[in-house]
Amino acid sequence: MENVNRSSPENWVSSRSPVTEAGQLVVLVTSGGKRFLFQLQPGQYFHTHLGSLPHNDLIGLPMGTTVHSQIGHAMLLLEPSLADLMTRVRRTTQIIYPKDANYIVHKLNLRSGSHVIEAGTGSGALTLALAWSVAPAGMVYTYEVRAENFNTAAENLRRAGLQPFVKQYQESIRDGFHQRGVDAVFLDVRMPWHYLEHVRTALRPGGFFTSLVPTTNQVTELLIGLEASGFADIEVEELLVRRYKPVPDRLRPDDEMVGHTGFIISARPIVDPSDPKRWLSQERKRYEARKEVEAIIAEEEERRAAERDAGGKKYPRMPLPG
Ligand SMILES: C[S@@+](CC[C@H](N)C(=O)[O-])C[C@H]1O[C@@H](n2cnc3c(N)ncnc32)[C@H](O)[C@@H]1O
Repeated sequence: MENVNRSSPENWVSSRSPVTEAGQLVVLVTSGGKRFLFQLQPGQYFHTHLGSLPHNDLIGLPMGTTVHSQIGHAMLLLEPSLADLMTRVRRTTQIIYPKDANYIVHKLNLRSGSHVIEAGTGSGALTLALAWSVAPAGMVYTYEVRAENFNTAAENLRRAGLQPFVKQYQESIRDGFHQRGVDAVFLDVRMPWHYLEHVRTALRPGGFFTSLVPTTNQVTELLIGLEASGFADIEVEELLVRRYKPVPDRLRPDDEMVGHTGFIISARPIVDPSDPKRWLSQERKRYEARKEVEAIIAEEEERRAAERDAGGKKYPRMPLPG
């Protein structure tokens, strides 16, 4: 087994040059709001329906410069954000979007130097956000069973320059992970509850677990699994983001919004899960107590009904608990 190496030799320097350089990723934004992400390569041309531009004319400019295609269309030259990188990955799977990714990073408590396991890698959109957060001193260990997705993710990571902070494994997590003592584990697979023992084994005490699933049925299965596998501090959340039309005099929400992406479930492993019921949520404990009272009442009702049938004492019905 591989114990995580906490002294990373990587000396990652993201480009903070005052002007663009060959090899750098840039975004061109059209006046209509379309965004194009590409790498600056001397001698190459950028082509759109709004005309073309030689990359050579874009090298050596400050980010934020307005440039013009050969037919006169203005475009804004920008440094790509993490959201630009994530939403413009080549895709062979459904991906996690920045809305959820940034909250997942927060729930996993990641920072530079963290070691985090992810499965499945998919197209690597979330992997980009994880690597971005743990660089330059940390590491992402990501597992993907399908070769096609493994290769797509490798290419997306290479293009974003984040490959040094990611170890990819082309294998199923069915038999567990190669790491021990990691800070966090994230699962984006169809049945995450099948792998909770592996998660516990890989996490350091006090580590962070998060998963994203699209349906409530999966949330139910995962909650049952987490309670049974010695996890506490369980939370289920969903993010709804409402964008606004940025018009100062007529500020109002967009007409449409993304209705649903997924549910984010988070939990922490209990080192000594001898009495895991103690750590059930307050809502869960109240529900259990109510179920117990209901069972006692049902039993008493049954006893009295039997007595009545036998011609015995008449009782008023018992009130149900409020
Ligand atoms: C929805 S995709 C993940 C998308 C990814 N989070 C992203 O943002 O691009 C789920 C991936 O999990 C992979 N997968 C499913 N079961 C797996 C397993 N047992 N071990 C490893 N990978 C698995 C699938 O092949 C698929 O690529």
